[in-house]
Amino acid sequence: MKTLAQILAFSLMVVGGYSWFSNSIPQLRAEPPSEESVSLEGMTMESFVALGQTIFEGKGTCPLCHNAVGHRAPLLVEAGSDGPPVAARAPSRLADGRYHGTASKPEEYLRESMVSPSAFVVEGFGKPGTGDSVSPMPDVSAGSIKLSPVEIDAVIAYMQSAAGVDITVPLPTEAVETAESAPADEGAVKDMGALAEKYECKLCHIVPGVDMAGEAPDMGPDLNGLKRYAKGAPDKLPLREYLRLSIVEPNRHVAQGFEPDTMPPDFADRMRVSELDLAVESLARAAEGGK
Ligand code: HEC
Ligand code: HEC
Repeated sequence: MKTLAQILAFSLMVVGGYSWFSNSIPQLRAEPPSEESVSLEGMTMESFVALGQTIFEGKGTCPLCHNAVGHRAPLLVEAGSDGPPVAARAPSRLADGRYHGTASKPEEYLRESMVSPSAFVVEGFGKPGTGDSVSPMPDVSAGSIKLSPVEIDAVIAYMQSAAGVDITVPLPTEAVETAESAPADEGAVKDMGALAEKYECKLCHIVPGVDMAGEAPDMGPDLNGLKRYAKGAPDKLPLREYLRLSIVEPNRHVAQGFEPDTMPPDFADRMRVSELDLAVESLARAAEGGK
């Protein structure tokens, strides 16, 4: 009789086969290089809002956490269980007794939320154990997201537009240098540092052997903790199989103390086979106490 591990190993081969197939199709890119200079000529508030949406969904990686599926962060541009879109609920944040930032206008609240997220932590969304005093959100003007002040203004314009409130940010006065689209895929990355950056692992995890630039994200478990699986992972899976499964099907085993639906479920479609192998090998070695 087949063991569970064998069955899982088989289903992983199927998943692996699919991603090999999709990755083997050469990537056709109609897009120009990602660094673009958006000219001021003809820049209207409408096009500034559109730029903001592109940054929000692309370089800013905002929907990675702010989405309805995992709901690990409040919704920003749609109404829902968190109330109206964030630009419309900003005044109520400023009036909240727990607010201790320096903003006095809704626009300033939005900017402050992006660059010093702990100034106000939405109830129930703080880092575990901090009593909602520390935000798990990174400063988006630094680290691997690194939005410029103009890019942050564009994102604010987009959030205000989505909420149907007045757009209060000024149009930029100099040509905007911005990454309009996500960086072009130049092929498989070759080291774990680049991988953790490309797939944003380091926005949620401390990744062993990777320069975290002083950040200690904890939306997901510290991957140094994988050492505890060195002698046997959950479901009696061999370490590498467990790691592979954790990456391509994150909801199959939900690490203790964490919620399902937080980690993106589509790495099997987005990663190349060599990249998945690289991630598994790198994490496995770290867990086994090697490099
Ligand atoms: C790694 C996860 C993560 C990413 C990426 C992220 N956020 Fe957040 N954000 C959160 C969490 C969690 C909260 C709730 C805790 C808090 O109030 O800081 C939050 C709160 C906010 C708030 C305040 C919401 C409110 O209801 O008052 C704003 C505004 C915001 N984020 C904007 C953004 C924007 C814009 C981006 C992209 C440029 C972004 N965030 C990227 C996790 C994230
Ligand atoms: C948006 C946040 C987020 C991103 C991005 C993310 N993860 Fe996760 N990850 C989580 C959360 C939350 C868990 C715990 C819940 C679960 O097991 O699904 C987790 C679990 C894991 C686990 C299992 C840990 C354990 O203790 O069992 C591994 C391995 C892992 N992630 C690797 C990665 C890698 C590699 C990447 C990048 C390719 C990545 N993650 C990207 C949030 C994230």
